[in-house]
Amino acid sequence: MRPDYPLKTERLLLRPFEERDLDDFFAYRARPDVQRYLFTEVPDRAACAELLARRMTEDELTEEGQRLALAVYWPEARRVVGDVVLKWLSETDRQGEIGYGFNPEFQGKGLATEAAGAMLKLGFEGLGLHRIIAQCDPRNEPSWRLMERLGMRREAHFRDFGILKGEWGDLYVYAMLAEEYRTLK
Ligand SMILES: CC(C)(COP(=O)(O)OP(=O)(O)OC[C@H]1O[C@@H](n2cnc3c(N)ncnc32)[C@H](O)[C@@H]1OP(=O)(O)O)[C@@H](O)C(=O)NCCC(=O)NCCS
Repeated sequence: MRPDYPLKTERLLLRPFEERDLDDFFAYRARPDVQRYLFTEVPDRAACAELLARRMTEDELTEEGQRLALAVYWPEARRVVGDVVLKWLSETDRQGEIGYGFNPEFQGKGLATEAAGAMLKLGFEGLGLHRIIAQCDPRNEPSWRLMERLGMRREAHFRDFGILKGEWGDLYVYAMLAEEYRTLK
C-alpha cells in the first residue's frame, strides 16, 4: 500500500520525509524532553540525518514488519512539526501499531491527535487491519491521553517491561478494533 500523498487532515499534510526536512526534524528529535520516554538515546545532528534517510524510504507498505513513517507538515507554521508511524505487525492477523512524536513548540493544539487519527484511518480503511495498538510508558501521560482521545482502550499494564534510560520502565498497551473504529466514526 502506498497512500496518495500528501494525506490531508483538517489542518495538516502528511507526506514522506524529504532531505530538506532535516532542520525541522533535528529541532525536535534531538530534544531530551522529546526523547525522555523513547528507548533510543538523544541523537546528534549526524544521527538525525541517518534516521531521516531511513525514514525517507519508509513511504509504503508491501509486507508485514514494515513501517510507514510520515512527516507531519503544518501549513500554518510552514514546517514539519512532528511525525507519525504506522507499523504493519502481521498480515495474517491484520495487526498494526501507531506511533508519534511532536515538536514541543507545537504541542497542546491537538495536531498529534489529528495526525495519529489519520494513521488509524489508513490502517483500518487503507490496509484493512483488524486491530491497531499503541504503547507507551505510563509516565508519558501526554502519550496515553492522546490514545484515549482517539478512543483506544487500555488493554495492559506491564510492570518492569524494559530498561528505559537506565531504570526499569512499565508499559501501557492500548488498542482499537476495526469494529470499534467503525462505531466511533
Ligand atoms: C505524545 C505527544 C505527541 C502528545 O502531544 P500533545 O500536544 O499532548 O497532543 P495533541 O497534539 O493531540 O494535543 C493535545 C492537547 O491539546 C489540547 N487541544 C487544543 N486544541 C485541540 C484540538 N483542536 N483538538 C484536540 N486537542 C486540542 C488538548 O486539550 C490537549 O491538551 P491537554 O493534554 O492539556 O488536555 C507529545 O507529548 C510528544 O511528542 N512527546 C514526545 C515523544 C513521545 O513521547 N512520543 C510517544 C512515545 S510512546
